[in-house]
Amino acid sequence: MKTLIRNGTVVTASDTAKTDVLIDGEKIMAIGNALEVKADQTIDAEGRYVMPGAVDVHTHMELPFGGTFASDDFATGSAAAAWGGTTTIVDFAVQTFGQSLRQGLDQWHQKADGKAHIDYGFHMIVREVNDSILREMDTLVREGVPSFKLFMAYPGVFMLDDGAIFRALSRTAENGGLIMMHAENGGAIDVLVKRYLAEGKGDPINHGLTRPASMEGEATGRAIALARLAEVAVYIVHLSSKEALDAVRQARDDGAPAFAETCPQYLYLSLEDLGRPGFEGAKYVCSPPLRTRPHHDELWKGLIQDDLQLVATDHCPFHFKGQKEMGRGDFSKIPNGLPGVEDRFTLIFHGGVNSGRISVNRFVELVATAPARMFGLFPRKGTIAPGSDADVVIFNPNVERTLSARTHHMNVDYSCYEGMTVRGLPEVVIQRGNVLVRDGKFHGTKGAGQYLRRSAFHGVPAGEPSPVGVTA
Ligand code: URP
Ligand code: ZN
Ligand code: ZN
Repeated sequence: MKTLIRNGTVVTASDTAKTDVLIDGEKIMAIGNALEVKADQTIDAEGRYVMPGAVDVHTHMELPFGGTFASDDFATGSAAAAWGGTTTIVDFAVQTFGQSLRQGLDQWHQKADGKAHIDYGFHMIVREVNDSILREMDTLVREGVPSFKLFMAYPGVFMLDDGAIFRALSRTAENGGLIMMHAENGGAIDVLVKRYLAEGKGDPINHGLTRPASMEGEATGRAIALARLAEVAVYIVHLSSKEALDAVRQARDDGAPAFAETCPQYLYLSLEDLGRPGFEGAKYVCSPPLRTRPHHDELWKGLIQDDLQLVATDHCPFHFKGQKEMGRGDFSKIPNGLPGVEDRFTLIFHGGVNSGRISVNRFVELVATAPARMFGLFPRKGTIAPGSDADVVIFNPNVERTLSARTHHMNVDYSCYEGMTVRGLPEVVIQRGNVLVRDGKFHGTKGAGQYLRRSAFHGVPAGEPSPVGVTA
């Protein structure tokens, strides 16, 4: 099956050109002007951008949290991702405490295999560190799961102490894996949470007040210091504050391999949303929490200057009714996480390109190319080039639309961006040559998404051991 995309403006992280794209089967075959081929279908992209399918490296489909589960599973969440222009996700498999990483990974395959509409890979959340887990990390790196999330927050649930973190970091220096850090000082935050609750302060706003930016900055600095001691790179997930960004920037200025992502919610939403009247603030409970507005500009600056390398979503939706409501009167019982997998592409285009903050090329880099590179999927994913998977978004930058739970496709009963007007729409979404979205209709197939074995952080193909890590 050959598909010819004519007359569009093809955008990659490095180039912009009005040219045609030829897809043959699952791959991009050629890019060029007025390609003379007999195609099975031709799509006219006049007035549109033709971009790589976006890669979201931070999702939590069906994550168990606080006695409930994230409301999108791999079927609903991956369809919503496709509607929004994302054709690849990397989700976090979870190690159950006391069990092996393999058992957690198997469980995640059961959740995803045969369900996902788009391609997917896994990171592994590591909840304890011992000799056997460290050996399993080596195996997982070789098998295509080369990234591991550790937590400095949520004591008694996910949090690891500095010794365990240092051991895991040191191991990735040997096996080519990458540690992804949830950097908040869980010990201090826990004391504040208990104090606030004892004082009768149970409203959602107190979730934000008990998790100050200074404690994200402290933990980010500590994570980087431990990584430097281990002579290895580290990646900070869902970075939300100037304090944390300063720690990353300083390390990078020193030449240390510190990397970080932020998420749309930290660029658009604020502590004011957590303070919405009644219990509505619960819709905005995530960790790290939403910050005050001045942090937004700082994070955009980080994206412009490449102190932040990419934007992911941390998609982790819980319905307001019946799930977020579990924390009425006690903010610590509100499941943490926000929906977002469908909105990232357009929100970053709108706030980045439409506002004049970034070029369309930097946009592609932030949502597709850099995530694919960082997490071992490039050049199969994240670009438009001969030989790459034919994951393509035809984006109309002139459509004005209103974000709403009434029209989104995520399985969640509210939108964090309800009523917000944005300009831009992923009109056609193609994965490996198959049209998933076109003319406002979904054409995807449940289970057609392929599992992706990813290369180790330093470019070692899946299946081969990595000789060394990067030294700080
Ligand atoms: O609030 C959040 N971020 N929930 C998802 C779990 C995590 O820490 O990423
Ligand atoms: Zn986290
Ligand atoms: Zn997360």
